Amino acid sequence: MKAAEILALKETALAEARAAGTSAQLEQVRIKYLGRKGCLPKIMEGLKEAPPAERPAMGRYANELKQELSELLETRRDALASATAATSGAAEVFDPTLPGRWRALGARHPISRVIEDAIRIFDTLGFSVADGPDIETEYHNFDALNTPEDHPARDTQDTFWLESGQLLRTQTSPVQIRVMESRPPPVRVIAAGRCYRRDTTDATHSANFHQIEGLYVNTRVSLADLKGDLTWFAQRLMGPEVKVRFRPHFFPFTEPSVEYDFSCHLCRGKGCRMCKQSGWIEISGAGMVNPKVFAKVGYDPEAVTGYAFGLGVERLAMIRYGLDDIRLLYDNDKRFLEQLAQ
Ligand code: DAH
Repeated sequence: MKAAEILALKETALAEARAAGTSAQLEQVRIKYLGRKGCLPKIMEGLKEAPPAERPAMGRYANELKQELSELLETRRDALASATAATSGAAEVFDPTLPGRWRALGARHPISRVIEDAIRIFDTLGFSVADGPDIETEYHNFDALNTPEDHPARDTQDTFWLESGQLLRTQTSPVQIRVMESRPPPVRVIAAGRCYRRDTTDATHSANFHQIEGLYVNTRVSLADLKGDLTWFAQRLMGPEVKVRFRPHFFPFTEPSVEYDFSCHLCRGKGCRMCKQSGWIEISGAGMVNPKVFAKVGYDPEAVTGYAFGLGVERLAMIRYGLDDIRLLYDNDKRFLEQLAQ
């Protein structure tokens, strides 16, 4: 056999391998060319008798034939195998002794858990759930809450403004206005959701956070109701030994206003790193609804009174789960979230 003939044989062999449509046909091609009684051993045998000048070229072509054909056979075999696996799933062997496939299960996020638990607790006090948009009007977020444009309280709540003049709400308090605009008293609602402020992110601040708002309006609501209900909530959420402390404060939409703290549940009020040695952890603001707000929504300030409060959800989650950095709640690190999953 001449060198040129070996070259031609290689082309034929490759073409046959390409044309083979089943693994059995591929196997036949392999046997025909590479098998013990196939073409290649014969060529190798013939090398010995070939004229010395021809030998190197013959040897090289014979090697190429072996190499290229083996590679092609292998790729074709893989391709055919995956094509059959894809089309004939039924042929797959079912082995009942193998362990089942494990799927990672999700869990409720700590922020969702605090919100759902709060809603459940306030439900026992007769509160129903209300909702409002994240994109608010300036009127609902500020003016109707007795915070006119020149009021200094606006400075601490700078936010993201849209070209339309609307804004991303800085607090859930505008839901109070929307609820009172839409129905007559009495109202007893709780509203949870996202809030936005132009804050630089650090261990305790985030430009995007969550609040829970509560509003109770009726004929004879007093500050005692507020204290009692918030204390009930604190004890149901954090444990029966938690105490609640109220401090005088200012909010434009409540009069009088308070800020309130929970006793630190880590050190039980003794003072630790979590509560900055004070024994108390600040939760948010509250107060008696300002009569000016009632007038804005068309309620008779002489006929009704009400209390309102805000809760910082991240703050509650941080003390409940002993976190020292708010960013842990947003990183979406599964290793962290799995530790908190119930
Ligand atoms: N919206 C206030 C804030 O974000 C919290 C707050 C204070 C809510 C007093 C209230 C309230 O409903 O009565 O700082």
